[in-house]
Amino acid sequence: MKLCMIGTGYVGLVSGTCFADIGNQVYCVDKDKNKIDKLNSGISPIYEPGLDELIKKNYNANRLIFTTDIKKAINSSDLIFICVGTPTKKGSLKVDLSFVYKCSKEILKHSTKKKIIITKSTVPVGTGDEIEKIFKKKKKLFNVISNPEFLREGEAIRDFRYPDRIVIGSDNKNKFKTMRKLYSPLISKGAKFFTTSRKGAELIKYASNAFLATKITFINELANLCEKTNINVEDISLGIGSDTRIGSRFLRAGPAYGGSCFPKDTKGLVSAAEKYKTNLSIVKSVINSNHRRVSLLTKRVHQILGKNLKNKKISILGVTFKPNTDDMRDSTSLKMIPYYCKNGAKVSYYDPSGEKKEFKQIKNCTYKKNIKENCVDADLIILLTEWDEFKSIDFKKINKKKNLKIFDLRNLYAPEEMKKNKLQYYSVGRPNLN
Ligand code: UDX
Repeated sequence: MKLCMIGTGYVGLVSGTCFADIGNQVYCVDKDKNKIDKLNSGISPIYEPGLDELIKKNYNANRLIFTTDIKKAINSSDLIFICVGTPTKKGSLKVDLSFVYKCSKEILKHSTKKKIIITKSTVPVGTGDEIEKIFKKKKKLFNVISNPEFLREGEAIRDFRYPDRIVIGSDNKNKFKTMRKLYSPLISKGAKFFTTSRKGAELIKYASNAFLATKITFINELANLCEKTNINVEDISLGIGSDTRIGSRFLRAGPAYGGSCFPKDTKGLVSAAEKYKTNLSIVKSVINSNHRRVSLLTKRVHQILGKNLKNKKISILGVTFKPNTDDMRDSTSLKMIPYYCKNGAKVSYYDPSGEKKEFKQIKNCTYKKNIKENCVDADLIILLTEWDEFKSIDFKKINKKKNLKIFDLRNLYAPEEMKKNKLQYYSVGRPNLN
């Protein structure tokens, strides 16, 4: 099939490349010439394991075309995917849909024959109806359907190839057939093909993210209780997660959830519900609880190092919101590092995805090239992101300080082992053995 992905951000680039890999011809369009030039010379603008190779393979097979020429891309395709950003509006919970509407107007301007328009961007309930209004002049040419994307950063290719479900929302039942054909290579490998109304599909995406954010926030709050009662939160996760009605995934206690979706989509859902005079009080408290968690964990440093942080050497391992991505959006590190520096600590950090522009201007914050360089003279090592290379560090070998302290926000190490090695070890939601 001939597809056009408008927007080569996370969703557009990964799904466009994966669609090409299952045999489609895919135009990936972006107005950012620099990005398109990079892609045409084989450089991916995002960090995603396996993506570079997949782009090269499909580009060389002429199935993947990168261009700024939206007119040509639209006219060469039958299915047009809207994959532009839907950020939160500054100073509010509302979703900024200006990119979605702008690109719908471009589609209207350039289309000369029938097209199926598919929103892959996460959009609030009713956005499909608004897009349809933009198309009203040439109504007969367009069918607007919703096909939300559920892939996770760092695991995006696997998630595309082996999705739990494919959700298609359309008020025109004939269009399900086309979408089933497009996804048939994934359906034949076991993906559930789920069809519903267009609005239903739009809400499913927000509801999924809000529910997962709720699970994480729930276990994070229980972790606080576990710390006070000397219980291991991991036992609680296993104990409740083994009930298939609850399920074991997304019950890992840790820092506040971050990333490009959960913080944005929980807010977007609340504000969309308000438009329909509906109070989503649970989602609201999830948002608030997650905010509180950032400052709770940031301030925990005082329980470990004392009130005065002046000249204390804090080394942070991992600053992205999760491993296998270079994405910094809503990462706890964005609050932690400035707080420690402001309070006089000397902070260094290492991240496998490289140095971050967010910390370049901060006084007393330096980037180190590897774990050893980062941790050699630390008073406190904070494990903030669970990259594989942080999972078996010989702390005694890389830092000779007698009273070295470790704060593990991802529970990567066993407290008993750390105690045996005479390390002062702090983790999340587990008994403190110091
Ligand atoms: C999420 C959704 O999972 C995905 O379906 C959607 O398309 C986009 O948003 P992503 O943001 O890439 O994906 O990462 P995810 O793995 O879901 O993690 C989100 C945040 O939750 C991270 O900060 C992660 O550290 C945290 N998390 C996740 C936990 O703290 N505990 C868990 O058990 C799982």
